[in-house]
Amino acid sequence: MQHYGEAVKNFIETHATGLTVLLVTGARVIMACRDMTRAHIAADEIRQQSGNGNVVVRKLDLACLQSVRDLVKNVTENEKHLDILINNAGVMMCPKSQTEDGFEMQFGVNHLGPFLLTNCLLDMMKKSAPSRIVIVSSMAHEKGQINFEDINLDKDYQRKKSYCQSKLANVLFARELAKRLDGTGVTVYSLHPGVVRTELARHILPTLALWQRIIFHIIVTLAKSPREGAQTSIYCAVDEGLANTSGLYYSDCAPKVPAPQARDDTAAKKLWDVSASMVGLV
Ligand SMILES: NC(=O)c1ccc[n+]([C@@H]2O[C@H](COP(=O)([O-])OP(=O)(O)OC[C@H]3O[C@@H](n4cnc5c(N)ncnc54)[C@H](OP(=O)(O)O)[C@@H]3O)[C@@H](O)[C@H]2O)c1
Ligand SMILES: *[C@@H]1O[C@H](CO)[C@@H](O)[C@H](O)[C@H]1NC(C)=O
Ligand SMILES: *[C@@H]1O[C@H](CO)[C@@H](O)[C@H](O)[C@H]1NC(C)=O
Repeated sequence: MQHYGEAVKNFIETHATGLTVLLVTGARVIMACRDMTRAHIAADEIRQQSGNGNVVVRKLDLACLQSVRDLVKNVTENEKHLDILINNAGVMMCPKSQTEDGFEMQFGVNHLGPFLLTNCLLDMMKKSAPSRIVIVSSMAHEKGQINFEDINLDKDYQRKKSYCQSKLANVLFARELAKRLDGTGVTVYSLHPGVVRTELARHILPTLALWQRIIFHIIVTLAKSPREGAQTSIYCAVDEGLANTSGLYYSDCAPKVPAPQARDDTAAKKLWDVSASMVGLV
């Protein structure tokens, strides 16, 4: 357990804050995580902090479609209803690599995995309506474009280009999903959590030169704490004022107009079709 020490502390602070808030209100929380060791440690901490023991850990590796399907099966077979789905997990600017299914890693984990997961849980969420789907995107979407001709960036992989594409995909997915769910009582929200002190930079840190590390250190110092970083996700998940709003993008607990390419309904529809075909949903 020793070497998990610091990392787990960070994990708990990052991911537990939001869950603790929900738990205090009496919710049952399913933590879907890829690292069971860290997840169980965090779950124990959350149970203590919230005084609500109703937290379960389930295995989910978003880089594996079979894992997504297994989680869906487990949830639909064991749970009576699902009121809030928060798609938070993500990877940023990792070296070129592929998911189990051969998709470019950032597009696969940040968009295709959550796309399949969300779609497979929709029936349950409709039955649980009013219910909400929260998709954690980023201001990085502003620099993104969807490279429909080479969506896996096989020809020209660039870490940043890939991350920005995946975060743009998050906003477009939320927009198209909201349209499709109109009238069902299931509402959809995408958001930028802020610049938050987390482990998200794990893949870029080793690539930085000394002067870049100094700048990075300054950014980290000025960044939001994990607690602050969780606020917009919590807001979208539970604020009653948003009950009849769907498909919008939020930042600092307020709606924000996303970049023009994130308001392109034709691209949103096209991305949906491409994604559905990639994950085998027809
Ligand atoms: N931090 C920021 O400044 C910032 C800014 C804008 C947007 N965001 C967004 O906020 C979200 C949360 O990021 P964070 O900042 O909290 O980063 P983080 O500390 O790195 O947390 C990301 C989480 O995603 C999980 N994850 C990664 N790959 C996964 C996979 N294949 N299957 C299942 N889980 C996986 C990680 O699991 P492990 O614990 O097992 O590694 C980790 O728990 C991301 O969507 C990110 O794009 C963050
Ligand atoms: C769901 O996962 C839990 C924890 O791993 C396990 O105990 C349970 O048997 C699973 N249920 C189904 C139906 O797969
Ligand atoms: C949402 O719509 C319902 C039904 O029309 C209404 O009763 C409720 O007051 C509305 N809530 C908000 C926050 O607008």
